[in-house]
Amino acid sequence: MAGIVSNAYEYDPSRIEHACASYRGNGPLARDFYASADIFNADIDRIWRRYWLYAGHSCLIPEAGNWMTWAIGHDSVIVSRGQDNEIRAFHNTCRHRGARVCREEHGSGRSFTCPYHAWTYELDGRLRTPTEREFGVHQSKLGLHPVPLKNVGGLLFVALGDDPVSFEKTMTEVAPKMAHQGLENAKLAKTLRYNVKANWKLIFENNRECYHCNTAHPEYVKGTYDTARFVPNLEQEVEVQTAAAVARFNALGLGIDGVMASSDMTGAFWRAARTPLMEGWKTQSLDGKPVAPLMGTFRDKNKWSDGTLRTTIFPNFWQHASDDHAVSTRITPIDATNSQVDVYWFVHRDAVEGKDYQLDKLMPFWQRTSEQDWEICTANQAGVLSPRYEPGPYSKIRETNVQHFIDWYLGALAGPRGHLRSVGNKGASA
Ligand code: FES
Ligand SMILES: [Fe+2]
Repeated sequence: MAGIVSNAYEYDPSRIEHACASYRGNGPLARDFYASADIFNADIDRIWRRYWLYAGHSCLIPEAGNWMTWAIGHDSVIVSRGQDNEIRAFHNTCRHRGARVCREEHGSGRSFTCPYHAWTYELDGRLRTPTEREFGVHQSKLGLHPVPLKNVGGLLFVALGDDPVSFEKTMTEVAPKMAHQGLENAKLAKTLRYNVKANWKLIFENNRECYHCNTAHPEYVKGTYDTARFVPNLEQEVEVQTAAAVARFNALGLGIDGVMASSDMTGAFWRAARTPLMEGWKTQSLDGKPVAPLMGTFRDKNKWSDGTLRTTIFPNFWQHASDDHAVSTRITPIDATNSQVDVYWFVHRDAVEGKDYQLDKLMPFWQRTSEQDWEICTANQAGVLSPRYEPGPYSKIRETNVQHFIDWYLGALAGPRGHLRSVGNKGASA
């Protein structure tokens, strides 16, 4: 069957339906989902252009006139801060003949000028160049196409397509929790970019379990209960510590709903859960010692740990925010077997490098953990490409959240065309 062109992403829908319907349950997807260009295009069209994507933090464009761009497939988005301080997003395609208007990833100015024929747009997207006499269309009709944007406590999410899923429940849950972290008053301390030879789903699947943590992440497991909770003689200690942490977090008014020490999603495609750190650990650093000045509403470092707010939003974002810094991960799909991953370290905006924080103390915990993950994902992709690959079973205890991701993914891929699998999850829905 010939392919169709849908939103510029060509794929054969019958192949997608067939692949989804062939899923045998309880385990990873078949090879095609991690290798075929058809399914990759359907992923972009049906998921990446329908769900809300993390574009970056508001502090990446701190001043009026700052802008940044982000390319996902054939889409490119400009996110800018206007003279009125409002953050807006636009499709980065000129209303004249379609050229990319902003070609760098970051910039600053009083307007955007398309390099092709110099049409000039205001920071709020309106076309300034007079067009009525020469082109027969008034410039008021030729503004940059807006992209819906949500600012969730400093996290910027955009929706590329015409029919995005509702983000209301997500924001209602995430925003009040995020408000404590002070990310509206943060600055970027450092960012690292990785080109990972893995399908975006393998990267997210790996993120959704800590079964691999004992073997892959010697630093990470020291300070968290992710793996201890599955060790029979530690189970009770984890429960006691968790209950104590819940009481502390409640006393601090941190908006806790009881989802602790786990990676469980709190919604269909999102979660925001404050998780305790082990006794003696104040933050997610190599030795658990603070690495930067307190952020947000946090005040008393010596008394107790404020834990870590873990936020996950499918398909491209997760963040661990401790009380003195936050580390965010943004996935950008490149093709069926490649992804770009950006990792960002944020600290209080008044913190001074070398005085209030040192990069060699701030970064290693998540730099090492991230790089260990990319290595795993690359090896996973390589093995899945083997013609002899056969999906194995998931653990019913330690990989339930990976199964949830797969179920969400298949349901989202089927989309409005009919649910092939229901997304079983906490009664929350998209
Ligand atoms: S394409 Fe942008 S000004 Fe012509
Ligand atoms: Fe990992």
